[in-house]
Amino acid sequence: MKKLLLVAATALLLASQVSDAQNRRRPDAPLPKWEGLAETPQMGWSSWNKFGTEINEKLIKETADQMVELGLVDAGYVYLNLDDGWHGERDEQGFVHEDKEKFPSGMKALADYLHSKGIKLGIYSDAGTNTCACYTGSLGHEYQDAYMYAQWGVDYLKYDWCYTNNVDPKGAYTLMRNALRKAGRPIFFSMCEWGSNKPWEWAAEVGHSWRTTGDITARFGGNSKQRGWGQSVLEIIEQNEPLRQYAGPGHWNDPDMLEVGNGMSVSEDRAHFTMWCMMAAPLILGNDITNMTPEALATVTNKEIIAIDQDPLGIQGLRLKKEGDLQYWFKPLENGDWAFCILNGGEEDRTIAIDWSALEVNDEFSSRSTDFATVNYDVKDLWNASAKPFTTLVKGKGKQRGQMVTSVATVTVNAHDVATFRLSPVPEKKK
Ligand code: GLA
Repeated sequence: MKKLLLVAATALLLASQVSDAQNRRRPDAPLPKWEGLAETPQMGWSSWNKFGTEINEKLIKETADQMVELGLVDAGYVYLNLDDGWHGERDEQGFVHEDKEKFPSGMKALADYLHSKGIKLGIYSDAGTNTCACYTGSLGHEYQDAYMYAQWGVDYLKYDWCYTNNVDPKGAYTLMRNALRKAGRPIFFSMCEWGSNKPWEWAAEVGHSWRTTGDITARFGGNSKQRGWGQSVLEIIEQNEPLRQYAGPGHWNDPDMLEVGNGMSVSEDRAHFTMWCMMAAPLILGNDITNMTPEALATVTNKEIIAIDQDPLGIQGLRLKKEGDLQYWFKPLENGDWAFCILNGGEEDRTIAIDWSALEVNDEFSSRSTDFATVNYDVKDLWNASAKPFTTLVKGKGKQRGQMVTSVATVTVNAHDVATFRLSPVPEKKK
């Protein structure tokens, strides 16, 4: 009996040792990214495009107040992201602190203020020794930094790629993903390595979005190679367009933040904003919210255009064809709908007769096709509320069975502008 008890006790001890070892994770063991934070592309505002490192508590609070006041939060712009320039010094133990002159009440108080208004706080750091504007980077402090962000109540981290000599990109971003998970607070992880290491091929498990291009500038066309710095809207579209199969709910291509309100014309702003929506891009405003023109506000709060970006299917739009300066884009939407956009990148206004039969889409990636030959779609002009609604197909009396007669639509697309429509299949009438 004694012997039997001894055997049983030993077995129990061994079993508990095994499960202890299973439960004890190595500190650097991979942890999953936070799920459920990016079912649709993120929307918000960031300080960088307009203010650079000139940010402070007063500006941020005023921006937050105006985001509520102007209805931007209600329209979906819920993140307020501090970009480069908020860092102060690290303490003796290596923990990071905010710049006390710029943010005298501290980051925690700022987060509380934003949260009380229904806004989420975003913050910025870098995988290297320094941020791009030379503040302290997170290299070697990843877990400490993630811990501090969680303590402050941060909801979003943009993680940049300056000063990363000899740093492995996949390793560095995975390390911060693990650290964010370990810190225990759900934090959106926005990767910003400019597409240098093709993150779309490996980062779906790592981040919620990844930059696909270099930095945007408030310029519609032209070539950055000739100009030196900053990429134009048209250049960025070219780079982001071929990457659509990598984007989807939880992991988005990020062609950089918006420049609406930063100096382009109203039509250029409209085209830029619409194309970001057609590409299911993050919508991060980059202008001065405290001093916004009615046109810029109307552009970024067009609900029907935002709905294209935020469509639950989460499919990045496709470019059906490019004819000179004209580009024809489609995006599959829920309930069999499609967004259809003609972008005029040229200097001349254009009037186009739409021939639907030449615009059939057969999208292998989403397994969605248009069917203008048999399905009648209602067509709604999303930038021109007074435009007469029309349909794609007229099955007129006396027409031979099966014969397709498309309604003739003539659309004018001004220079550096878009015409944008939502197509909704008309239910077949019961006979
Ligand atoms: C890089 C990023 C920008 C911005 C700056 C800040 O250039 O790509 O979006 O964050 O750094 O210094």
